[in-house]
Amino acid sequence: MKIYAISDIHADNQKYRTVFDLPRLIQAKIDKDTEKSILIICGDVAQNILVFHHFLKMFKKMPIPKLFVAGNHDLWVENGSDSLMKYLVLIKEACYDAGFHYLDQEPFIDEKIGFVGNIGWYDYSFKSPHTVIPEGIQLIKGNTSHYIQWEDLHDEDYELKTLLGEMDNNLFNITTWNDKYYIHWSFSDKEFTQRCLYQIQKHLAQVRKKINHLVFCSHHIHFQEGILHKNKVQWDFNNAFMGSREIGKTILNEEKLRLYLFGHSHESGKFTLKNNIPAFNVSYQPKNNFTCIQINNIDGSVSLIS
Ligand SMILES: [Fe+2]
Ligand SMILES: [Fe+2]
Repeated sequence: MKIYAISDIHADNQKYRTVFDLPRLIQAKIDKDTEKSILIICGDVAQNILVFHHFLKMFKKMPIPKLFVAGNHDLWVENGSDSLMKYLVLIKEACYDAGFHYLDQEPFIDEKIGFVGNIGWYDYSFKSPHTVIPEGIQLIKGNTSHYIQWEDLHDEDYELKTLLGEMDNNLFNITTWNDKYYIHWSFSDKEFTQRCLYQIQKHLAQVRKKINHLVFCSHHIHFQEGILHKNKVQWDFNNAFMGSREIGKTILNEEKLRLYLFGHSHESGKFTLKNNIPAFNVSYQPKNNFTCIQINNIDGSVSLIS
Protein backbone atom coordinates (compact mmCIF):
# COMPACT_ATOMS: atom_id res chain seq x y z
CA MET A 1 0.00 0.00 0.00
CA LYS A 2 1.22 3.51 -0.81
CA ILE A 3 0.64 6.28 1.70
CA TYR A 4 0.59 9.89 0.48
CA ALA A 5 1.07 12.09 3.53
CA ILE A 6 1.09 15.83 4.07
CA SER A 7 0.61 18.30 6.91
CA ASP A 8 0.84 22.01 7.72
CA ILE A 9 -0.67 23.30 4.53
CA HIS A 10 -1.85 26.54 6.17
CA ALA A 11 -3.96 27.31 3.12
CA ASP A 12 -5.22 30.63 4.54
CA ASN A 13 -1.79 31.87 5.52
CA GLN A 14 0.49 30.40 2.94
CA LYS A 15 3.29 32.20 1.19
CA TYR A 16 3.50 29.30 -1.26
CA ARG A 17 0.36 29.25 -3.41
CA THR A 18 1.62 25.91 -4.72
CA VAL A 19 -0.29 24.14 -1.93
CA PHE A 20 -3.34 24.39 -4.16
CA ASP A 21 -1.53 22.24 -6.74
CA LEU A 22 -1.28 19.36 -4.26
CA PRO A 23 -4.50 17.56 -5.30
CA ARG A 24 -3.43 17.61 -8.96
CA LEU A 25 0.14 16.49 -8.18
CA ILE A 26 -0.99 13.62 -5.95
CA GLN A 27 -3.66 12.57 -8.45
CA ALA A 28 -1.01 12.38 -11.18
CA LYS A 29 1.01 9.96 -9.02
CA ILE A 30 -2.01 7.88 -8.08
CA ASP A 31 -2.95 7.49 -11.74
CA LYS A 32 0.34 5.64 -12.25
CA ASP A 33 0.01 3.45 -9.13
CA THR A 34 -0.80 -0.19 -9.65
CA GLU A 35 -1.34 -0.85 -5.95
CA LYS A 36 -3.70 0.53 -3.34
CA SER A 37 -3.09 4.14 -2.23
CA ILE A 38 -4.27 6.17 0.74
CA LEU A 39 -4.03 9.88 1.55
CA ILE A 40 -3.37 11.20 5.06
CA ILE A 41 -3.40 14.86 6.11
CA CYS A 42 -1.80 15.39 9.52
CA GLY A 43 -3.35 18.73 10.44
CA ASP A 44 -2.94 22.50 10.15
CA VAL A 45 -4.93 22.83 6.93
CA ALA A 46 -6.42 26.26 7.76
CA GLN A 47 -7.71 28.35 10.63
CA ASN A 48 -10.66 29.58 8.54
CA ILE A 49 -13.22 26.77 8.38
CA LEU A 50 -14.39 27.83 4.89
CA VAL A 51 -10.85 27.66 3.51
CA PHE A 52 -10.38 24.39 5.41
CA HIS A 53 -13.51 22.91 3.82
CA HIS A 54 -12.60 24.23 0.37
CA PHE A 55 -9.12 22.70 0.56
CA LEU A 56 -10.36 19.25 1.59
CA LYS A 57 -13.04 19.35 -1.11
CA MET A 58 -10.34 19.73 -3.75
CA PHE A 59 -9.55 16.05 -3.10
CA LYS A 60 -13.16 14.93 -3.30
CA LYS A 61 -12.91 13.16 -6.65
CA MET A 62 -9.75 11.29 -5.71
CA PRO A 63 -10.91 7.66 -5.60
CA ILE A 64 -8.84 6.51 -2.61
CA PRO A 65 -9.41 6.53 1.17
CA LYS A 66 -8.62 9.96 2.60
CA LEU A 67 -7.81 10.35 6.29
CA PHE A 68 -7.53 13.51 8.36
CA VAL A 69 -6.02 14.36 11.74
CA ALA A 70 -6.63 17.85 13.16
CA GLY A 71 -3.84 20.33 13.91
CA ASN A 72 -3.79 23.12 16.48
CA HIS A 73 -4.34 25.81 13.81
CA ASP A 74 -7.47 24.02 12.61
CA LEU A 75 -8.88 24.60 16.11
CA TRP A 76 -8.13 28.33 16.18
CA VAL A 77 -11.19 30.50 16.75
CA GLU A 78 -11.86 34.12 17.60
CA ASN A 79 -12.74 34.96 21.18
CA GLY A 80 -16.35 34.06 21.87
CA SER A 81 -16.23 30.84 19.84
CA ASP A 82 -15.29 27.42 21.17
CA SER A 83 -12.32 25.41 19.91
CA LEU A 84 -13.79 22.18 21.26
CA MET A 85 -16.98 22.71 19.26
CA LYS A 86 -14.87 23.32 16.17
CA TYR A 87 -12.84 20.16 16.88
CA LEU A 88 -15.82 17.91 17.51
CA VAL A 89 -18.50 19.30 15.19
CA LEU A 90 -17.37 21.75 12.48
CA ILE A 91 -14.24 19.86 11.42
CA LYS A 92 -16.14 16.57 11.51
CA GLU A 93 -18.85 17.95 9.22
CA ALA A 94 -16.32 19.49 6.81
CA CYS A 95 -14.38 16.19 6.65
CA TYR A 96 -17.53 14.19 6.07
CA ASP A 97 -18.73 16.52 3.31
CA ALA A 98 -15.34 16.42 1.57
CA GLY A 99 -15.11 12.62 1.76
CA PHE A 100 -12.44 12.49 4.47
CA HIS A 101 -12.40 10.02 7.36
CA TYR A 102 -11.78 11.97 10.60
CA LEU A 103 -9.26 9.89 12.54
CA ASP A 104 -9.61 11.96 15.72
CA GLN A 105 -13.08 10.48 16.07
CA GLU A 106 -12.67 7.00 14.64
CA PRO A 107 -9.81 4.74 13.55
CA PHE A 108 -9.64 3.31 10.03
CA ILE A 109 -8.67 -0.16 8.82
CA ASP A 110 -7.76 -1.19 5.28
CA GLU A 111 -6.13 -4.46 4.20
CA LYS A 112 -5.47 -5.32 7.86
CA ILE A 113 -3.48 -2.10 8.32
CA GLY A 114 -4.89 0.03 11.12
CA PHE A 115 -4.69 3.82 11.02
CA VAL A 116 -5.07 5.46 14.40
CA GLY A 117 -4.72 9.21 14.61
CA ASN A 118 -5.19 12.09 16.97
CA ILE A 119 -4.21 15.74 17.17
CA GLY A 120 -2.24 14.92 20.35
CA TRP A 121 -1.49 18.00 22.41
CA TYR A 122 1.30 19.30 24.61
CA ASP A 123 1.99 19.10 28.31
CA TYR A 124 5.35 20.96 28.33
CA SER A 125 7.23 17.66 28.72
CA PHE A 126 9.53 18.67 25.83
CA LYS A 127 10.54 21.98 27.35
CA SER A 128 14.20 22.68 26.55
CA PRO A 129 16.56 22.25 29.51
CA HIS A 130 18.86 24.99 28.24
CA THR A 131 19.15 27.68 25.58
CA VAL A 132 21.17 30.78 24.75
CA ILE A 133 19.80 34.09 26.00
CA PRO A 134 21.21 37.02 23.97
CA GLU A 135 23.53 39.25 25.97
CA GLY A 136 21.87 42.04 27.90
CA ILE A 137 18.49 40.35 28.14
CA GLN A 138 17.05 39.31 31.50
CA LEU A 139 14.10 36.94 31.57
CA ILE A 140 11.06 38.11 33.53
CA LYS A 141 8.71 35.72 35.26
CA GLY A 142 5.23 36.12 33.74
CA ASN A 143 2.69 38.15 35.75
CA THR A 144 5.49 39.51 37.97
CA SER A 145 8.39 41.90 37.64
CA HIS A 146 10.90 39.38 39.00
CA TYR A 147 13.91 38.16 37.10
CA ILE A 148 14.00 34.44 36.44
CA GLN A 149 16.63 32.06 35.09
CA TRP A 150 15.81 29.80 32.12
CA GLU A 151 16.41 26.69 34.26
CA ASP A 152 13.79 27.91 36.75
CA LEU A 153 10.95 28.19 34.21
CA HIS A 154 8.24 25.78 35.33
CA ASP A 155 4.97 24.51 33.93
CA GLU A 156 3.12 27.54 35.33
CA ASP A 157 5.39 29.78 33.23
CA TYR A 158 4.82 27.75 30.07
CA GLU A 159 1.10 27.80 30.74
CA LEU A 160 1.18 31.57 30.09
CA LYS A 161 2.66 30.85 26.61
CA THR A 162 4.57 34.13 26.66
CA LEU A 163 8.21 34.68 27.53
CA LEU A 164 8.99 38.19 28.70
CA GLY A 165 12.38 39.90 28.76
CA GLU A 166 13.94 43.10 29.94
CA MET A 167 16.70 45.02 28.22
CA ASP A 168 17.92 48.52 29.08
CA ASN A 169 14.93 48.90 31.41
CA ASN A 170 12.49 48.09 28.60
CA LEU A 171 10.09 45.21 29.08
CA PHE A 172 9.32 43.28 25.90
CA ASN A 173 7.79 40.10 24.61
CA ILE A 174 10.53 37.65 23.57
CA THR A 175 8.08 35.14 22.10
CA THR A 176 4.47 34.03 22.36
CA TRP A 177 2.94 30.70 21.36
CA ASN A 178 -0.16 31.88 19.50
CA ASP A 179 -2.49 29.13 20.73
CA LYS A 180 -2.66 31.54 23.69
CA TYR A 181 -4.83 33.91 21.62
CA TYR A 182 -6.75 31.50 19.39
CA ILE A 183 -7.49 28.36 21.38
CA HIS A 184 -10.58 28.97 23.50
CA TRP A 185 -11.93 26.20 25.67
CA SER A 186 -12.22 25.24 29.31
CA PHE A 187 -9.25 22.83 29.37
CA SER A 188 -5.75 23.40 30.61
CA ASP A 189 -3.16 22.03 28.16
CA LYS A 190 -2.49 19.10 30.47
CA GLU A 191 -6.18 18.30 30.71
CA PHE A 192 -6.61 18.35 26.95
CA THR A 193 -3.50 16.17 26.55
CA GLN A 194 -5.11 13.63 28.91
CA ARG A 195 -8.31 13.78 26.87
CA CYS A 196 -6.29 13.01 23.72
CA LEU A 197 -4.50 10.18 25.49
CA TYR A 198 -7.82 8.66 26.51
CA GLN A 199 -9.08 8.79 22.91
CA ILE A 200 -5.84 7.27 21.62
CA GLN A 201 -6.03 4.39 24.11
CA LYS A 202 -9.66 3.80 23.20
CA HIS A 203 -8.96 3.72 19.47
CA LEU A 204 -5.92 1.48 19.88
CA ALA A 205 -8.00 -1.00 21.88
CA GLN A 206 -10.67 -0.86 19.15
CA VAL A 207 -8.32 -1.94 16.33
CA ARG A 208 -5.58 -3.95 18.07
CA LYS A 209 -6.99 -7.42 17.45
CA LYS A 210 -8.28 -6.70 13.96
CA ILE A 211 -5.04 -5.59 12.33
CA ASN A 212 -1.59 -6.89 11.40
CA HIS A 213 0.14 -3.51 11.25
CA LEU A 214 -0.43 -0.11 12.81
CA VAL A 215 0.22 3.34 11.34
CA PHE A 216 -0.07 6.11 13.91
CA CYS A 217 -0.71 9.68 12.75
CA SER A 218 -0.65 12.79 14.92
CA HIS A 219 -0.22 16.48 14.39
CA HIS A 220 1.98 17.14 17.41
CA ILE A 221 5.37 15.50 18.00
CA HIS A 222 5.54 12.98 20.80
CA PHE A 223 9.15 11.82 20.63
CA GLN A 224 12.33 13.55 21.71
CA GLU A 225 13.99 12.56 18.41
CA GLY A 226 11.56 14.86 16.59
CA ILE A 227 12.19 17.90 18.79
CA LEU A 228 14.72 20.36 17.41
CA HIS A 229 16.88 22.23 19.85
CA LYS A 230 18.32 25.36 18.25
CA ASN A 231 19.93 27.23 21.15
CA LYS A 232 17.74 30.18 20.14
CA VAL A 233 15.53 31.37 22.94
CA GLN A 234 12.40 31.98 20.81
CA TRP A 235 12.50 28.51 19.27
CA ASP A 236 13.53 26.65 22.41
CA PHE A 237 10.76 28.22 24.52
CA ASN A 238 8.21 26.96 22.00
CA ASN A 239 9.52 23.39 22.27
CA ALA A 240 7.27 23.14 25.34
CA PHE A 241 4.32 23.23 22.91
CA MET A 242 5.47 20.45 20.60
CA GLY A 243 3.90 17.37 22.15
CA SER A 244 3.67 14.92 25.03
CA ARG A 245 6.11 12.23 26.15
CA GLU A 246 3.25 10.30 27.73
CA ILE A 247 1.44 10.05 24.39
CA GLY A 248 4.71 8.94 22.78
CA LYS A 249 5.12 6.18 25.37
CA THR A 250 1.60 4.93 24.71
CA ILE A 251 2.18 4.81 20.94
CA LEU A 252 5.50 2.98 21.31
CA ASN A 253 3.91 0.31 23.51
CA GLU A 254 1.94 -0.95 20.53
CA GLU A 255 3.72 -4.02 19.23
CA LYS A 256 2.11 -3.73 15.79
CA LEU A 257 3.35 -0.16 15.28
CA ARG A 258 5.17 0.08 11.93
CA LEU A 259 5.08 3.77 11.08
CA TYR A 260 4.58 7.12 12.81
CA LEU A 261 3.55 10.24 10.87
CA PHE A 262 3.39 13.78 12.25
CA GLY A 263 3.84 17.46 11.41
CA HIS A 264 3.59 20.68 13.45
CA SER A 265 7.23 21.87 13.45
CA HIS A 266 7.27 22.60 9.69
CA GLU A 267 10.63 20.83 9.48
CA SER A 268 10.18 17.80 7.26
CA GLY A 269 12.46 14.85 7.93
CA LYS A 270 12.80 11.38 9.30
CA PHE A 271 14.05 9.66 12.43
CA THR A 272 13.91 6.16 13.81
CA LEU A 273 12.15 5.03 16.96
CA LYS A 274 13.05 1.93 18.98
CA ASN A 275 12.73 -1.37 17.07
CA ASN A 276 13.65 0.57 13.92
CA ILE A 277 10.19 2.05 13.50
CA PRO A 278 10.41 4.97 11.07
CA ALA A 279 8.90 8.34 11.95
CA PHE A 280 8.30 10.96 9.25
CA ASN A 281 7.58 14.64 9.68
CA VAL A 282 5.36 15.20 6.64
CA SER A 283 5.16 19.01 6.86
CA TYR A 284 4.55 20.65 3.50
CA GLN A 285 7.68 21.89 1.74
CA PRO A 286 7.30 23.58 -1.65
CA LYS A 287 10.33 21.65 -2.95
CA ASN A 288 9.00 18.14 -2.40
CA ASN A 289 5.27 18.89 -1.91
CA PHE A 290 4.28 15.66 -0.19
CA THR A 291 5.73 12.47 1.28
CA CYS A 292 5.05 9.10 -0.32
CA ILE A 293 5.71 5.98 1.73
CA GLN A 294 5.21 2.33 0.90
CA ILE A 295 4.08 -0.12 3.54
CA ASN A 296 4.18 -3.82 2.77
CA ASN A 297 0.93 -5.31 4.02
CA ILE A 298 2.48 -8.77 4.44
CA ASP A 299 5.50 -8.04 6.64
CA GLY A 300 4.78 -4.40 7.57
CA SER A 301 8.11 -3.13 6.26
CA VAL A 302 8.18 0.54 5.33
CA SER A 303 10.16 2.39 2.66
CA LEU A 304 10.25 6.01 1.59
CA ILE A 305 9.38 6.51 -2.07
CA SER A 306 9.68 10.32 -2.23
FE1 LIG B 1 1.63 24.23 11.26
FE1 LIG C 1 0.71 22.97 14.36
